[in-house]
This record gives sequence, C-alpha cells and structure tokens, in this order.
Amino acid sequence: TSGPEVIDVRELVKSGYFTYDPGFVSTASCESGITFIDGANGTLLHRGYPIGQLAHHSSFTEMAYLLLNGELPSDEQYEDFSSRIRNHTMVHEQIANFFKGFRRDAHPMAVMCGVAGALSAFYHDNLDITQQHDRQVSAIRLIAKMPTLAAMCYKYNIGQPFMYPRNDLDYAENFLYMMFGNPCEEFRVNPVMAKAMDRILMLHADHEQNASTSTVRLAGSTGANPFACISAGIAALWGPAHGGANEAVLNMLAEIGDESEENIQRYVDRAKDKNDSFRLMGFGHRVYRNFDPRARVMKETCDEVLSELGMGDDPRLKIAKRLEEIALEDDYFVERKLYPNVDFYSGIILKALGIPTNMFTVIFAVARTIGWISHWNEMISSGARIGRPRQLYTGYTQRDYPTGE
Ligand code: ACO
Repeated sequence: TSGPEVIDVRELVKSGYFTYDPGFVSTASCESGITFIDGANGTLLHRGYPIGQLAHHSSFTEMAYLLLNGELPSDEQYEDFSSRIRNHTMVHEQIANFFKGFRRDAHPMAVMCGVAGALSAFYHDNLDITQQHDRQVSAIRLIAKMPTLAAMCYKYNIGQPFMYPRNDLDYAENFLYMMFGNPCEEFRVNPVMAKAMDRILMLHADHEQNASTSTVRLAGSTGANPFACISAGIAALWGPAHGGANEAVLNMLAEIGDESEENIQRYVDRAKDKNDSFRLMGFGHRVYRNFDPRARVMKETCDEVLSELGMGDDPRLKIAKRLEEIALEDDYFVERKLYPNVDFYSGIILKALGIPTNMFTVIFAVARTIGWISHWNEMISSGARIGRPRQLYTGYTQRDYPTGE
C-alpha cells in the first residue's frame, strides 16, 4: 500500500508462524467436554443431552449440576447440591453499601459488573483455585448469589427495600420472590411464571466459546479469582451483539410499534439496506446457520406463557411472529442463513413476567454464570496455559525519534 513504510504482515502469515483469524471464526481456543453445537443442523447438546430434552424434563438446578459435574445427579446428589446452593443465597450485609454508591438510574448491567466483582472482596476464604474443593465452593457461591445480586439491582433501581432470599423456594421461585415481593405483604409466586423463568435460565445456561465465556476463560487463564472472571464475563455479555440483544429486540419491537404489514416490511427492508445500520435484532448467529434450537423452545414457551397469562393478543408477539415469517421468506435472510436466535422470543416472555427491559441482560448473566463457571473450572482443572493471542502488526517499522538534528 502507499503511505508510510509498514511491515508486510502477509509475509508473516505465509511463514506459518501463526494464523490470522479475526473474530475467531475458525480457530478453536481450547478443548471442552461441556457443550456441543452443530450450527449447520441446529443441534445443541449439553454433556451429550439435547437442549430440547433438558428444557422439557430437567430444571435449572439439575442442569447446573450437569454442566459443572458432567453427569446428571442422583436424587441424593441433587438434594445435596440444591441445599448447598440454598445455603449460600444471602450476600454479605456490607454488599448493600456498594449499591448505594451507584446512581439509582444506572443501567443494572453497570451495577452488576461492579457488585459481582466485589464478591471476591468478601469470599476470599476459599480462593485456592488449585483445589477442587475451593473451586466448587466458589462455583456454588456464584450460582447462589447471582439471583440475589440481580434482584438487588432491580430493587435499588426502583427504590424498594432489598428482599432477603427465601430458602424454602426453588431457584426460579426465589428469584421472582426477591424481584417482586415486598416486606408489606405476602407474595405468592405464580407457578406459570416460575416455570417460564426456570426455562429461560436453562436455555441461556451455556453456549460453548461465545464472547463472554471466552472472556471468562481468558481472564481465568491468568489465575485471576473466579469472581473477578465472572465480572469480566458480565461486561462482555452486555454488548448488543451478544447478551444485550434481548433488550435490543424489545426496543426494536416497540419501535416498529404498528402491526401493519407495510410497516413490518419496512423494517425488514431497512435491515437489508447496507447503507442503514439497522439490523433485525434477535436474528443471525455466528455458529448457527440453521434455526437456533433454543429459539424453537423459546417460541413454544412464549406461546404457552402468554396464553396461560391471558396475554395471547400481545401486539409485540404478533409483530415478532409476522417479522419472523416475512424474514424467513426473504431471499436476503435465506441466502445468509439468518434465523431467529435465542433472544428473539425471550424478551417477550420476560416482559410478560413483568421484568423491565433493562433487566433482561442481567437475567441472561444470572443464567450464564453456570456456563462461565463450568468452563472456568474445566480450564483450571486441565492446567491450561495462559491465553495470549498474537496479532498482525500493521504499524510503522522502526524509526528514529525526531531530535531536530
Ligand atoms: N439483520 C440483518 N442482516 C444481518 C443480521 C441481522 N440481524 N445478522 C447478520 N446480517 C448479515 C450481515 O450484514 C452480513 O451480510 P453481508 O454478507 O451482505 O455483509 C451477513 O449477514 C453475515 O453477518 P455477520 O455480521 O458477518 O455475522 P457474524 O457472525 O459476524 O455476526 C451476529 C453474528 C453478531 C449475531 C449478527 O448476526 C447480529 O448482529 N445479529 C443481531 C444481534 C443479535 O441478535 N445478537 C444475539 C446473538 S445470540 C447471543 O448472543 C445470545
């Protein structure tokens, strides 16, 4: 190229020292036995079990055990695991002070990055990561405390008192209780909502080496403590190209607003226009070139939940369904193999459960914590080396500092 003299990076690649793969499109960064994705066929297996079967027959807590330990638990193992989680649901009382340092109108993901990382300042008694026992304790603490922190974010945001966890409730029920209960009246968790929340958590639990999991692995490869690594994962998840997409989908459906065919078509056309930065949020995926199997279950769950809650006529659901139909018949989306991903329908369910839009990605983080910590545990126990990507340098060759002589 013209301009300043630069090192010809193509020569470095040709010499075979390392590969150049921006966006890690075809580079495996590790070996893993946790999750398998076949993007061409739309298959997702956790420890060998198809996601559809898990979503219908398992629970989030059981799936957490499976991801972390490799096998489904026996009844006794399940009881032990869930009672250990219940035992750790509270957070240190001083953590409440951290919230007070944030503006109440801060985005809850901004607060989550801070308070999740702060856990390492409170739970440093079991941080010898070379010990399997300590890794398990930190994993249990994180799984148990993330819903508590998430609910505290919400309560702080709306100015209500924090609710202590209730250990007689299961994982999803307790989360909904801490979100929507208040000290002034008895709160009964709606079983339809609890089931829907549990399923949303299951469908977001793990997805192999996505951006946030890779971030957790990279941070963990330095020997950083697990709470700090999860905080890094939360930051990576926040972006609209990743976990922030569920929030973006709802904002998009609100922006589309009008259910008319011409209006929906106008937005599909905008997404195809390369001069317009608008994309169909909740569409497309780096690995899936077929229907995201989580989106299938999510769509089915969305229909069930809305009809059970008497909200089958929700205009957002109608717009979403029509948008999907129009896009899936359009050559642009067909040729590029762009299908709805897990986030396309999850936001509609979360909205029906009364969850505000800015909490959607926080709930994704609560769910994905089990995936992050399972990968972190797998990596540390296999004695992985520090992650240290290379680069192709495109700057100046060596030159002299101008001394004016
Ligand atoms: N709307 C319109 N066009 C799209 C979309 C979309 N949602 N997604 C991809 N495309 C187009 C691109 O413009 C590109 O077209 P071109 O070949 O003519 O240039 C082609 O499809 C390939 O897209 P890339 O951006 O190269 O695909 P990549 O694998 O890098 O990105 C991503 C995947 C980020 C998910 C992308 O599809 C996207 O931005 N989707 C919307 C955001 C979203 O839903 N994210 C959630 C992902 S799932 C998750 O994290 C849980």
